[in-house]
Amino acid sequence: MLLLCLGLLAPPVLAQTGPAFSATLTLHADQPGPVINRNLYGQFTEHLGHCIYGGIWVGEDSPIPNTRGIRNDVVNALKAAHVPVVRWPGGCFADEYHWKDGIGAAAQRPKMINTHWGGVVENNHFGTHEFMDFCAQVGCEPYITGNLGSGTVQEMMEWVEYMTSDADSPMANLRRRNGRPQPWKVKYFAIGNEAWGCGGDMRPEFYADNFRRYNTFLKNYPGNKLYRIACGPNEDDYAWTDTVMSIAGQKMDGLSLHYYTLPSGSWKGPKGSATAFDEAAWITTLRRTLRMEELITKHSAIMDKYDPAKKVGLIVDEWGTWYDVEPGTNPGFLFQQNTLRDAIVAGLNFHIFQRHADRVTMANIAQLVNVLQSLVLTDGPKMTVTPTYHVFEMFQVHQGATSLPVDLQTPAYAFGGQSIPAVSASASRDAAGRVHLSLVNADPRHPARIACVLAGGRFSTASGRVLTADTMQARNTFDQPDAVRPVAFTGFALAGGQLTAELPSKSVVVLELQ
Ligand code: AHR
Repeated sequence: MLLLCLGLLAPPVLAQTGPAFSATLTLHADQPGPVINRNLYGQFTEHLGHCIYGGIWVGEDSPIPNTRGIRNDVVNALKAAHVPVVRWPGGCFADEYHWKDGIGAAAQRPKMINTHWGGVVENNHFGTHEFMDFCAQVGCEPYITGNLGSGTVQEMMEWVEYMTSDADSPMANLRRRNGRPQPWKVKYFAIGNEAWGCGGDMRPEFYADNFRRYNTFLKNYPGNKLYRIACGPNEDDYAWTDTVMSIAGQKMDGLSLHYYTLPSGSWKGPKGSATAFDEAAWITTLRRTLRMEELITKHSAIMDKYDPAKKVGLIVDEWGTWYDVEPGTNPGFLFQQNTLRDAIVAGLNFHIFQRHADRVTMANIAQLVNVLQSLVLTDGPKMTVTPTYHVFEMFQVHQGATSLPVDLQTPAYAFGGQSIPAVSASASRDAAGRVHLSLVNADPRHPARIACVLAGGRFSTASGRVLTADTMQARNTFDQPDAVRPVAFTGFALAGGQLTAELPSKSVVVLELQ
């Protein structure tokens, strides 16, 4: 008997400007791959612009609804997306941050100038206790970046003691005096950030020796085991990876990688607008973001030389789009809008990370709120989630699931002399046995007709959601927070072990098969 399952809701009306093209896919449901670490869906927060102040922290006396100073609307949005891990306090800020300035009575905390980001006064009202409270409210794990660049071994060592020791010791007792009797669990701890740049302009040999030195003094207190993350390369600095792995690879649990998607491809001059762009900028952005595949592949190959058992995770703890700031905003605050283009970027990167789930064990998009490719934008009491948020929320079904291989044959999407694969895909099976297939159609003008062979599994029902819009530049605003949001996807049929679907142009689709 042929089983036919169609979605229940009417399809969204979408402008398509060309005939559909065809792609084929085989999903190997009986060939389980590595588990997809849920931390691939991690976040990054920095004392930068309105990420922390205004985006997360409003203070207890604020009229904006909050719990102990942390805004409730943002926490609720992050809980709905099951954000697994959040990195803090930077970024470049981390290597100028002195954690003792951010504990104790708020009024007594010393101020500092945030030299990296706008030269504004940092009052240190959001410190260790507030960050840990934020993580507890969201239900995620903390990922702390220690100050290697301008701090001392003692300072970093004492921060770990302060947070994780339950002994009758100076730092644990200081924490108790500050109102937290029991230690926190802190697994993820990085020794410096971008040591090759804002973190100290170091050579890899010097950094690797410093990693070994600082690492020696970071203790695993009873009940807490640190996962020690070394500063890895900037983009394609393969020599950095080779040197740091050769000198310190045996001492680390993770090595970071930073890669931002700049439509201009250059850190000099304008990067391009987040919202006012044409199809040339669309394909350039997507082509540049796909470079993540090459970077991960080549850095992984170097790591394989020193760590063939893949014990060291590649931690992509800064990624995402970097455009010109929104006109009229502080250039040091890196505030940019977020469109359907960013949602496509997110989907493409997740597919890359999941293909490399054997080596990539965490990724943290930059940044969570109000900075670069954000999930959430706020303006005083107003808040909206972005198209990027919706991809995180839709893809949460892959968190902790077992990856399943997909063989995809897709035509290219070409424009103006550039060309990228039109369709991208990834699949996994969750603990309940459900299979999820996520698909991205990067072509902004043509729908994709995709024929999927579901090998090694029997599926009788399917359902799905789609994120798309009429225009490439579609975005959510405070006045129209739902302009881009996922809706039920009905453009598929499941029959006799075959799934066919018609993906709208410029769309992200997640299908569930049972
Ligand atoms: O995310 C913004 C900045 O980009 C971070 O502070 C730094 O690590 C990177 O260069």
